[in-house]
Formats: sequence, C-alpha cells, structure tokens
Amino acid sequence: MSRIAYVNGQYVPHIDASVHVEDRGYQFADGVYEVIPVVGNKLIGEGGHLDRLQRSLGELKIEEPMKRDPLKLVMREVLRRNGVVNGLIYLQITRGVAPRDHAFPLDAVSSLVMTAKKTSLEKSEKKAEIGVAVITVPDIRWGRCDIKSVALLPNILAKQEAADRGAYEAFQYDVDGFVTEGTSTNAWIVDQDGTLITRPESNSILSGITRADLLALLETENIKVELRAFTVEELHNAREVFLTSSSAYVQPVVEVDGKVIGNGKPGSISANLREIFKSYMNN
Ligand SMILES: Cc1ncc(COP(=O)(O)O)c(C=O)c1O
Repeated sequence: MSRIAYVNGQYVPHIDASVHVEDRGYQFADGVYEVIPVVGNKLIGEGGHLDRLQRSLGELKIEEPMKRDPLKLVMREVLRRNGVVNGLIYLQITRGVAPRDHAFPLDAVSSLVMTAKKTSLEKSEKKAEIGVAVITVPDIRWGRCDIKSVALLPNILAKQEAADRGAYEAFQYDVDGFVTEGTSTNAWIVDQDGTLITRPESNSILSGITRADLLALLETENIKVELRAFTVEELHNAREVFLTSSSAYVQPVVEVDGKVIGNGKPGSISANLREIFKSYMNN
C-alpha cells in the first residue's frame, strides 16, 4: 500500500506531496503541529491533542483551517488510506502562503498538511525492556515552549548531540540548572524515597499529552506525584528516570550523562507506569 498525504484539501501520493515555496511554515517556521499516537485504530488522547492544537493556533493568531469534526474525519481518512492501525498521525498547520514579509499577511489562508505512518509496538517494547540513555544540554530555546511550534532548531541540535554521543534523547536544563524537558519528550524522575517528580506546566515546557494522561492515571491509581522542577544533580542521583511522549509512551531511562541509574535496568516504578499506560491505550 503506497503512502498518501493530505495537503490542503487533497489526498496525494506521499512522494508527490508538496507545499508552495512561499508557505510561511517553510520560510519562517510560522506554524504548529501535532503528533497523535494510534493504537488499534484508536487515536490516543485525541481530545487533548486537538485542544492543544487549538491553543497553539490561538496563541499565534493562526486561523483554524477547519473545525474539529471535519478535521477528525480527515484524520481518520488519512489513517484509512494509509492502512495505519498502529502508528502515528502528523498534522501541521501554517499561516499559509504569502509574499515574504515578517508581519502577518492580511489575507493568507492557513495550510493544513497530514501524514500517517505505521510504527512497531514490538520495537517500542524492546526499547522499554532495555531502557535508554540520555544526556543533558543547556536549554537554548525561546520563551514560549508551551506552543507546539514547528520551529525546532534547538531541539534538533540537542537531539543530534544525543545521537552523536550514543544517547536516545537530550534532557535540556535552564539557566538555574533545572531540567526543563527532552527535545521531544517530558522528563520524570523517581527520587530515593520513591516520589515521582515532573516539572509543572509553564512556558518553559510543552504540556505533553502523554504526561497529562499519565498524571490523570496516577490520580486514579492513588500514586503521589510532586509537580516541581528538579535539578540536573537530582536527575543524576535519581532512583529511576523515565520520559513520556506520544511516540515513546512511557520509556525508562537507565543512563544519564554516562552515569548508570539504579542497577542499569528499567526501574520497577517506571516499568509499572508503562504497563498502566499501555492498558489505558488498549482499553
Ligand atoms: C518539546 C516536547 N516536549 C514534550 C513532548 C511530549 O508531548 P506529547 O506527550 O504530547 O507527545 C513533545 C512531543 O513532541 C515535545 O516536542
């Protein structure tokens, strides 16, 4: 089955899918995006993702290209045409095509692009069984990390540094030495007393949907969490470390900056949280 993309009202072969050279997403990164996981044909956390998309658009004063119900229909059609039962759907909305000028164009029509791809649950499971390594890097991003903007250069540089150093992800830290988040993930630790800690929502992090869904599950399971920023030192000395995202779900971390966390194997709390999250996705 060949891949199909949705581009401004049309379903086109993925290989031919393109936008105009003066699309402001291309020229200015003037756009936003969402990545929604699909498990067994179900869009996980769909409401949260679409709420966040609407919020990002609102913060940037980009017109919604279509209302939520037709958007949901198009998403399902993209999944159907690509035969995606387990995978990810990617949505990108930009301010549209206009002659190059930094100020907002008066009459641009926002662009909407969608793609979908299959992912392997087995691969994700294997990675979770072993655990991954992360590094820490200074957070050099802008002051509105709460907006899911396509302007991702600092994230890309940090992720590349992680790849160069043989790590899966880079956790960024602010000028005061507190961890903000990963390049495409939220960061969590379990301290030596067994307390779960993750940074509260603010302009310094993207409010992850996986993070929010996991927090809600923790509440029903009666597991306590401290919403506070933690330092790189606390990260190094944590009993357990894990990260959350739409593509990694709950992923245990077993090494930070070359330092082994716990006994070098995924911690029992992280592993349990992954199971809790998996049963939420499968039900
Ligand atoms: C910077 C950043 N933080 C956190 C996340 C995790 O968010 P979510 O759980 O909604 O995928 C992402 C996802 O792309 C991200 O880009």
